[in-house]
Amino acid sequence: MSASVLDEIVELRNTIEKHNYQYYVMDDPVVPDSEYDRLMQRLVKLESEYPQYLVPESPSQRVGASPLDAFIQVSHEIPMLSLDNAFSEEDFTAFDKRLREMVNVPSIEYCCEPKLDGIAVSLLYQEGVLVRAATRGDGRVGEDITLNVRTIKSVPLKLIGEDVPEKLEVRGEIYMPKKSFKELNARALAQDEKPFANPRNAAAGSLRQLNPKITATRNLEMCAYSVGVVEGALPDNQHAAMHSLNRWGFRINAEMQVCDGVAACMAYFNSLLSKRDQLPYEIDGIVYKANSFTLQRQAGFVSRAPRWAIAFKFPAQEEITELLGVDFQVGRTGAITPVARLKPVFVGGVTVSNATLHNMDEITRIGLMNGDSVVVRRAGDVIPQVVSVVLARRPDNAKAITPPLTCPVCDSAIEKQEGEAVARCSGGLFCPAQRKEAIRHFASRKALDIEGLGEKLISVLVDEGLIGGIGDLFSLTVNQLALLERMGEKSAQNLVNAIQSAKKTTLEKFVYALGIREVGEATARALVAHFGTLEAISSASYEDLIEVSDVGPVVAGHIKMFFEQPHNLETVAALLKNGIYWPDTTRHDTVKSLQGNTYVLTGTLVTMTRDEAKERLIGKGAKVSGSVSTKTTAVFAGEAAGSKLAKAESLGVPILDEEALIKILA
Ligand code: IVH
Repeated sequence: MSASVLDEIVELRNTIEKHNYQYYVMDDPVVPDSEYDRLMQRLVKLESEYPQYLVPESPSQRVGASPLDAFIQVSHEIPMLSLDNAFSEEDFTAFDKRLREMVNVPSIEYCCEPKLDGIAVSLLYQEGVLVRAATRGDGRVGEDITLNVRTIKSVPLKLIGEDVPEKLEVRGEIYMPKKSFKELNARALAQDEKPFANPRNAAAGSLRQLNPKITATRNLEMCAYSVGVVEGALPDNQHAAMHSLNRWGFRINAEMQVCDGVAACMAYFNSLLSKRDQLPYEIDGIVYKANSFTLQRQAGFVSRAPRWAIAFKFPAQEEITELLGVDFQVGRTGAITPVARLKPVFVGGVTVSNATLHNMDEITRIGLMNGDSVVVRRAGDVIPQVVSVVLARRPDNAKAITPPLTCPVCDSAIEKQEGEAVARCSGGLFCPAQRKEAIRHFASRKALDIEGLGEKLISVLVDEGLIGGIGDLFSLTVNQLALLERMGEKSAQNLVNAIQSAKKTTLEKFVYALGIREVGEATARALVAHFGTLEAISSASYEDLIEVSDVGPVVAGHIKMFFEQPHNLETVAALLKNGIYWPDTTRHDTVKSLQGNTYVLTGTLVTMTRDEAKERLIGKGAKVSGSVSTKTTAVFAGEAAGSKLAKAESLGVPILDEEALIKILA
């Protein structure tokens, strides 16, 4: 009887471990969570009924341990080294040259992978079972963090496979994926706790817990990057060894690649640098290791780093600088945004001297004061942000930041809606700042695209009283413009030409250019597709507007309000009087062309989104329905179409492909 219980326990463990491996190591789960939970519950039940069969490497034993009083120190049998750094192609080329000369080969093959921004860990396995996990410490002596590390699901408690070495020490990085970091900080903020500054600190803080139950809630991951002590067989190069580790149960980096020579390594560097922000974890560079273990042994070590590997660092994404002051800027819709003026600092590959602070609540959240030293972050193309204050460096004369009581530009009252973080100037187009922004938007590339009409010039034109708003742009003359400072006759003429040629546009661009709150390009396109003419859009009721896909109650309210305000109607009239036009899109013929037809769209379209197709069909007078019935004229089926296609077939409704759709819409 009990023999069969043991059989069941062993089988459950094996199955759960297989699922763990697929989920946490291969990112490729094979069963739904419910199935996994059911297996785990059964295992826990059997182990509590038959405690004699309980073993520490059971997958049920990841979270159970009680808190420690302190971490115990452990010595590393082989020291855990660090890496030398390269910061430029020259550094890397010099490293490669030194190594080639040392081992006397013409070209070196490197095993390349991202440098993960986390905490180094050493995992010791005896006969395939995890017996100890330790931090790097000073490289010789670290701390025993076994109980915490056991809670990390991508750390195998027991290795899989016939060829697992007797004794195996695996080294790697423990890190917190970006998503888990965001969720952890959101939870911290919701409970009025201090958030972590970055995923690395969060990972370190989560590992340094004396209570493993806390670590268990933190969603850490482990990725293997090298082997320490090994008693048993291992392939003779880094890349193959890593794939053995992967088979035995470890997560390895999916970006890992072998590159031969400097040029290939540089191409790898650049490709990862451009992918950096899309990766689900933070990286701070690339680690290059000579792939051949023979070559590694030949090259050896210097003091604390191997001669056969190097970390080529990416430009830092965070730096410390001083806050010189805070400006309050007024945007197109009156939103007042505090902007940090910073002592210029090189971060994320560019010099940054301004960073957005979003709103006053954000200033309060960070606890920012004038004169503070701050951490500035610029990641990828995202606008620079002030992340936190370095309190230890706060000067005695640091001053509180006070928000303006009235609009800093036009002195109008400031409004703040209940529940909204944004404060707004109530001046509307009376406010020069809002007017300037409205003109800038109108002239921008995706709107009327007036070349040469940039921010500075707009500012001068408004300040000099040459234009009051977008309605006045088209009456500007060469003579008026030529009088402006730093504006010759020629550039004045060019600008007037650019303004005149911008008169011919499309209705979509015109609607977008008006700068109606929350009406971006996509919404403008949807409005035109739905209504067809400017008159129809401007006279649409709230009920008509929310019929449009892409338009919700808030946006419908903004559109309605825009066309109710007399000064907006005057501006639109002035623009049309000045000769703005778009090729005739009166859709009388075409509207009729699909009138009375009802279509259903299903599957994925290649040349347009389903929403776009829907709008365009409606624009031609058709109805688009979500379900197939005998009244359906035809179903347009894209790729991977499902049940609607089957229904159409069963009802004998015609099924057309994307090509037919394009023809009908042409
Ligand atoms: S290899 C002898 N590979 O970077 C080889 N290290 O200064 C030793 N690190 O603390 C390290 N990602 O924890 C290697 N893919 C990677 C790495 C990596 C991050 C960390 C490592 C160490 C530091 C080296």
